[in-house]
Amino acid sequence: MSVKRLLCISSEGSAQARACCGELPGWDVCVVDSMTAARKVLAQQHYGVGLLLDRGDGSGDDGIERFLNQHHETRWVGVFDAQRLDQPALRELIAAHLFDFHTRPVDALRLQHSLGHAHGMATLAKNKAQQRRIGSQSSHIDGVSDAIVRLRAHIDKIAAVDAPVLVCGESGSGKELAAQEVHRRSQRASGPFIAINCAAVAPALIHSELFGHERGAFTGATRDKQGLLEAASGGSIFLDEIGDLPLDLQASLLRFLQERVIYRVGGTRTIAVDARVITATHVNLPQAVAEGRFREDLYYRLSVFPIRVPALRERKEDLPLLTDLIFNRYAEERSPQLKGISREALQAMARYDWPGNVRELINRMRRAMVLAEHRLITPADLDLPTAGPICPVKEGLGSSRLSAEKVAIGESLARSGNNISQAARELGVSRMTLYRLMAKHSISP
Ligand SMILES: Nc1ncnc2c1ncn2[C@@H]1O[C@H](COP(=O)(O)OP(=O)(O)OP(=O)(O)O)[C@@H](O)[C@H]1O
Ligand SMILES: [Mg+2]
Repeated sequence: MSVKRLLCISSEGSAQARACCGELPGWDVCVVDSMTAARKVLAQQHYGVGLLLDRGDGSGDDGIERFLNQHHETRWVGVFDAQRLDQPALRELIAAHLFDFHTRPVDALRLQHSLGHAHGMATLAKNKAQQRRIGSQSSHIDGVSDAIVRLRAHIDKIAAVDAPVLVCGESGSGKELAAQEVHRRSQRASGPFIAINCAAVAPALIHSELFGHERGAFTGATRDKQGLLEAASGGSIFLDEIGDLPLDLQASLLRFLQERVIYRVGGTRTIAVDARVITATHVNLPQAVAEGRFREDLYYRLSVFPIRVPALRERKEDLPLLTDLIFNRYAEERSPQLKGISREALQAMARYDWPGNVRELINRMRRAMVLAEHRLITPADLDLPTAGPICPVKEGLGSSRLSAEKVAIGESLARSGNNISQAARELGVSRMTLYRLMAKHSISP
């Protein structure tokens, strides 16, 4: 018979546990005397099944709910004094968090049955989670789709070569994550990873942010300041939204890439900098080059090793794994009775196009986890239609997508009373992205 492992929380130690439950044949029992001790054990190793022997006086009730919420992957069986069940709060807690419960005096055989059942259920869930994790290895980019498997392999190869990398992909698809992964898997992993969003820094400041300045270079420059490129020496610098870098800075960046030295603003001496440049953009850089907004020579320098992060709609097979991971990551925020996600919700997710990609998925899941009123998340909790009507396609796929994007933005702005932050949150994109999309669709704020 294989040994089943049980974590038992008993305030009076193993003697009380034995007196209460009898021997538990076939179980390897670890007894701890408090939730604090149980937390320590669970931080080290996973227990599929837990037994909570209630003190009987209600003195530990405050922390129980928080504890059970944090450790929802363990199936908990509780033992209580019968009169305690008169308390509505405790009844709710049992219904929401426990796999099963018993009243004292405990019927040892019945307890063994419910622990056995909990073990069976925990094993099923563990196998499912393990299967889904196969392929993720130690990468932070989660997914089992061919597209993500290829992306991880591509990053592994590129990381080994010390050359510039250009990451392209839609908003929220994981460009920054890919950039971090390139750094983490490179020889420079122990050095700094410094990120700057070129679209978010005022053009007047970005030069000195990147290259630093000498004292007296401009009003307010009271002392020498190191720039981010210098700070990234020995590591990588991530220039996000590189398409928004002003043209004069594009020239300075090109010089740095060619000569590996920089000048601080107001400085005359060259400073050698050993930083790998990783850039990202959601815009079509070749088009920006054609329109004269981006230097062609810089584009060729930066795009020696391009990485394309696939949109979520191109890898819908990843949805179950990603939702699982998001569910676990934000488990503490969820409404207590929530146990998982319904099949209908997963189906609705698979039908949806995810214009805001993984970030939108995270936002919709977090909102649903807080607002859900049932045991499983429904399509309505995610604000997704149950079964989409099949519309006759009157226009090409590209135009249909564009019209849908425009409608979604318009509706969201209307709902939020033109509040950009609120609409961006609802759509699962950043404010900058929303402004850009509004400009693209000629929507005025
Ligand atoms: N494959 C993935 N596995 C796990 N988490 C992911 C994955 N892809 C993206 N994420 C998560 O989604 C969120 C958005 O990712 P990230 O910030 O890298 O996107 P982005 O493409 O840089 O977005 P933006 O264009 O808005 O800057 C982050 O919380 C990130 O951790
Ligand atoms: Mg980003």
